[in-house]
Amino acid sequence: MSTNSQAWGSRVGLILAMAGNAVGLGNFLRFPVQAVQNGGGAFIIPYLICFLLMGIPLLYIEWSTGRFGGKFGNHSTPYILDSMVKGRVLKYIGVFGIFTNVAVAAYYCYIESWTMSYVYHSLAGTFEGMSQSGIAQFFNNYVDISQSSTGIPYEAVVFYILCLLLNTFILSKGLKGIEKVAKIGMPLLILFGVILAVRGLTLGTSGASELFPDANAWDGLNFLWTPQYESILDLKVWMAAAGQIFFTLSVGMGTIQCYAAYMNSKDDIALNAVSAGFMNEFVEVVLGSLIVIPIAAGYLGLDWVLENAGFGMAFQTMPYLFQQWGPVLAAFAGLFWFGLLFFAGITSSLAMGTPWMGFMKDEFNWGQNKGAWSFGLLILVMGLPTVLFFQEGVFDEYDYWAGTVSLVVFAMLETILFSWIFGMKKGWAEITSGADIKVPIIYKFIIKFITPPMLIIIFLGSLFKPLNNDWSGNVSSLFAGNGWTLDNGSIVKTVMHAGIKDKILATTDPVLIQQLQDQMMYLNFARFLLLALFIFISSLVYFAFLKRRREGRATL
Ligand code: TRP
Ligand code: TRP
Repeated sequence: MSTNSQAWGSRVGLILAMAGNAVGLGNFLRFPVQAVQNGGGAFIIPYLICFLLMGIPLLYIEWSTGRFGGKFGNHSTPYILDSMVKGRVLKYIGVFGIFTNVAVAAYYCYIESWTMSYVYHSLAGTFEGMSQSGIAQFFNNYVDISQSSTGIPYEAVVFYILCLLLNTFILSKGLKGIEKVAKIGMPLLILFGVILAVRGLTLGTSGASELFPDANAWDGLNFLWTPQYESILDLKVWMAAAGQIFFTLSVGMGTIQCYAAYMNSKDDIALNAVSAGFMNEFVEVVLGSLIVIPIAAGYLGLDWVLENAGFGMAFQTMPYLFQQWGPVLAAFAGLFWFGLLFFAGITSSLAMGTPWMGFMKDEFNWGQNKGAWSFGLLILVMGLPTVLFFQEGVFDEYDYWAGTVSLVVFAMLETILFSWIFGMKKGWAEITSGADIKVPIIYKFIIKFITPPMLIIIFLGSLFKPLNNDWSGNVSSLFAGNGWTLDNGSIVKTVMHAGIKDKILATTDPVLIQQLQDQMMYLNFARFLLLALFIFISSLVYFAFLKRRREGRATL
C-alpha cells in the first residue's frame, strides 16, 4: 500500500481550502449571468431548491466517499470508487474525477491569466481615458493573440504561461502550499468583495451616470432578488439553476473527494461540508450579486444589462465603469476586482491539480514535484489550443463537454452508486461518523429518493432538450403522438454539430460556408483532444490495475 503522508494542517485550513475550491470564477462571472439570463428573480427559487436537494446531498456524498477512500490510501476517484464497491468497471467511472479537473483547468487557467493581466493593466493605468468601446476592443485584441494592443507581444500566451507556472509551483509544495494560499486568498477576496459591493450600493439611486441619467444600481438588485413564483413551472430555469449549483459547489468533479481523502478518518464531515458549502453560497448570492450587476445597472441601466449580460462584462465593461471614479480610485477598484477574481480562480485551479497528483502518487509513487510538473505540462498541452484558438470556439467546447456535461454525468453515476449500490445504510453511517452536528434525518430520505431521480431527469433533460426549450409544448406533443423535437442545444444534436449545419444550409455565401466549416473543424479538434485525454487517463487506470494485481493488492 502506498504511504501518502500528506494531510491537512488544521480544520480551518481544510474548510478554507474546500471553500476556496468551490468559490471560483463561477461565483462572480457565471452566477450573475445565469441569473440575469433566466429572468433574475425567477432564477432564485429553483436555484435555492437545487442547493438544498442536490447541492448539500452531493457535498455529503463526495466528502464521505473521499474520507472513506482515504482510509484505504486512495486519493483520487478511480480507486476511491473501487474501494466502495468491488467491480472492474467502477474505476473507469472514476476517470471522470481526474479528466474533468485536467480539462477544466486547461481553460480555467486562461481566464485566471486574464485576471493577472488586468490587475497589471489597472495599476499601469492602461484603461485611463479609454472609451467604453475602446475597453471592449482591448479585450477582443487581447484574446486575438496575433494582435498586440498593449505593447506586449503575444501577451495572452505570456500571461497564460506565467499563471500556469505559478499554479505548478504552488502545487509542488503540496497541501501545505494550497492551505497557505487559501488562508491568505479567501479573506482578501471577501474584503475586496465587500469594498466593491459597498461602493456599488452607494452609487446612488439615480443619476449615477451622466451618460445615462435614469440608471439605477438598485434596479439591478431588485431585478435579481424579487422572487417570481411562476418560474417553478419552467424546466429551462431549473436546468440552468442545477447547472450553476454543480459548477459553483465544485460537485461532480472529483475534487472534493480528493481533498476529503486527506482528512483523518475520525474527522467531522457533517459540519465541515455544510460550512464550506454555505461559505460558497454566501460569496455567490451576496457578493456575486452585489458587484457586477448593480454597478453596471447603476451606470448603464438595467436594460443595458439585460441585453448585454455575458461572460465579457467583467473584462469588457467593469474597467470602463471604474474609470468613472477617477484615476486613483479606478486603479484601486481594478486591483480589488481583478485581484478578487484572481484569488477566486487560483484557489479553484489549485484544487484541480490535486486529483492527478494524488493518483500518480498512490499508483506510481510520483512525488510532489514530479506530480505537479507533469500536471503543468498536461495543462499546457491541453490548454494552449484554448488560448491560440479561443475565437474559433475551442474554449467554449471544453467548457461544454468538461465543464458542463461531465459534471452531470459523474454526479449522477456517483449518486446512484452511493445511494443504491454502496447502500444508504452504510452511506449514512459514513456521513454521520465523527459528526459534530446532527444531520437532519430527512437527508437520508433525500439522498436516497430525491437526489438520484433529480440527477437522472437533469441528465436526460440535457440529452434530449426540446426545441426552443419548450418543455410543456413538447410533452403535450409527445402525448398527442406528434413526437419530440430536439433543440440544437441538446447534447444529442450538439454532438452532430446540428446548429452549425443548419447555418450552412441557410446560406449561399461561400465565405460564410467556409468559415462555418472551419469552425466545425476546430470543434472536432477540441473534441479529439478531450477524448484523447479521457483515453489516456483510462489507460493509466488500467496500468495501475495491472500493477496492483502484480503486487497482489488488486480487488478483482
Ligand atoms: N467551483 C469553481 C467555480 O465556481 C469551479 C471549479 C472548482 C471546478 N473546482 C473545479 C470546475 C473542478 C471543474 C473541476 O468557479
Ligand atoms: N459560458 C458560461 C456562461 O456564459 C460562463 C462560464 C463558463 C464561466 N465557464 C466558466 C465563467 C468558468 C466563469 C468561469 O454562462
